[in-house]
Amino acid sequence: MPDEHPPPATDTEAPATLWEQQVVGERWTFYAERFDKLFAEGSDVEGEARFVDAMLPRGAAVLDAGCGTGRIANALHRMGHHSVGVDKDAGLIAIAQQRYPGVPYLACDLYQLRPDQLAAVGAPTQFDVIVLPGNVMVYMAPGSQRRVLAGLATILKPAGRLVAGFATDRDYRPSDFRADAAAIGLSVELRFSTWQMDPLDDGSGWAVIVLRAPGASAAAGRDANWAPASAWAQGAGAPPPSP
Ligand SMILES: C[S@@+](CC[C@H](N)C(=O)[O-])C[C@H]1O[C@@H](n2cnc3c(N)ncnc32)[C@H](O)[C@@H]1O
Repeated sequence: MPDEHPPPATDTEAPATLWEQQVVGERWTFYAERFDKLFAEGSDVEGEARFVDAMLPRGAAVLDAGCGTGRIANALHRMGHHSVGVDKDAGLIAIAQQRYPGVPYLACDLYQLRPDQLAAVGAPTQFDVIVLPGNVMVYMAPGSQRRVLAGLATILKPAGRLVAGFATDRDYRPSDFRADAAAIGLSVELRFSTWQMDPLDDGSGWAVIVLRAPGASAAAGRDANWAPASAWAQGAGAPPPSP
């Protein structure tokens, strides 16, 4: 039986994240400049967004939780989703807002995130997917992860997914993530060692774990080929025979 969901800690001061403790300062500049360079070079910084996009019908609601400089929320926006990025680091949110205008970004600790704050920036308040790419889980305040995940679970749609990718050699381990998920009633649906869906094993240095919320998906039962089928319906010719 899952533990009772703790409510989001709206009335509690958020503890300092490991990001604030370990990176903000000199390492922050290094981090921001690295993404400046990747952006300027037009490098591919969207792999996690492609993984998430493959799970979704068009026009889905996606929260990029711990969005940093906003690359994944932006990619998902461009792919046709209603995305929003939230991060506690106001400096990174300022970069995201400048770099990707047109996408809502919000400076807020996930520990305290409320639906009215999302609504205030024009974002959805219930999500098909919440994604935490790029080590967000391991940079949270130690001991805060279960509470953050529980708060995020309250803004997942029925059968919505929470997807996290993080290094396996930090203090917060994939086994901690699985235990936190079980405690708040989310089940592990898929596990990989990369965003390209390579298999996860004991030696993997990275984990990508997909959790599923209980309930029936609004998309359940839709035609798996719905997108091409709708194109054919608009006169694009007859569908090819089934293989
Ligand atoms: C390594 S960065 C990754 C940024 C982004 N997800 C990416 O992959 O480009 C980790 C981010 O997690 C954010 N973070 C960690 N704990 C957080 C929390 N409790 N609330 C909001 N952001 C958090 C940090 O502020 C930081 O921007």
